[in-house]
Amino acid sequence: MMIPVVLAVFLVAGVTLFFPVINLLLLSCTASGCGVPTYNPLVSRVVNGDEVIPHSWPWQVSLQYIYNGYWYHTCGASLISSNWVLTAAHCISSSNIYRVMLGKHNFRVAESGQKTISVVKLINHSKWNPNRLSAGFDISLIKLEQPVEFSDTIQPACLPAAGSILNNNVGCYVTGWGNLQTDGPSPDKLQQGSLLVVDHATCSQSDWWGKSVQTNMICAGGDGVISSCYGDSGGPLNCLNDQGVWEVHGVVSFGSSLGCNYYKKPSVFSRVSDYNSWISTTIASN
Ligand SMILES: *[C@@H]1O[C@H](CO)[C@@H](O)[C@H](O)[C@H]1NC(C)=O
Repeated sequence: MMIPVVLAVFLVAGVTLFFPVINLLLLSCTASGCGVPTYNPLVSRVVNGDEVIPHSWPWQVSLQYIYNGYWYHTCGASLISSNWVLTAAHCISSSNIYRVMLGKHNFRVAESGQKTISVVKLINHSKWNPNRLSAGFDISLIKLEQPVEFSDTIQPACLPAAGSILNNNVGCYVTGWGNLQTDGPSPDKLQQGSLLVVDHATCSQSDWWGKSVQTNMICAGGDGVISSCYGDSGGPLNCLNDQGVWEVHGVVSFGSSLGCNYYKKPSVFSRVSDYNSWISTTIASN
């Protein structure tokens, strides 16, 4: 019996204008200024993950908490407007104080494009139950103390159109400062990993994830070859749309206790396109 486990939470010492949920058929995402990095990511298919071109995923956020006077990276997240960030609910604990770092590439050094902003609100999905990870709803919104100014290193992600479902074998990229191997070291520099989407019909088969995956999730990876360890919890699954704009289709939720890239046990993400209305109503009322 496979036990789903949250992907390792690890430590590295270390507008009030909301972009409305965008229907890509009606509104070009480019016009709204999301999902188009100044520095293009390298998207040649590589086995195993890769250090990224600096700032080529400018919506990638590091969620950090303070402990004994030091800030620690705990999860990835995605900037979706100038003052809201999307992450996984299992990343959040109400007893912690959080901040976000934006525009980061390498934790070891201070970078000119980086910004650090306090968190003022953490809002879990109302149906999230930490004891029922396999029910889904592992998604939270984080409100920043003040809006961040967009720049070459800080830009918001686009959300996919509500209800949109990726086909089996579509290639996407997970990004984060997560471990390089199952028990490997955590990198200082942002990493990307190429993953193929596994559709729900396949992923819910009993020899894959079975009943642990719901239709409010996306599976990607699980071929046992391409590493899927990259990207820690809460971080984005980035997929390019027909117009060459990046959309965040998934929020890293859980993986297999057997290892990062176990055959038929792909990484599981909260499916963002199932939460468009939750995202817009939550932001509008907070
Ligand atoms: C969100 O869920 C986490 C468990 O994942 C819990 O610890 C936290 O208290 C919740 N936050 C709020 C604001 O309810």
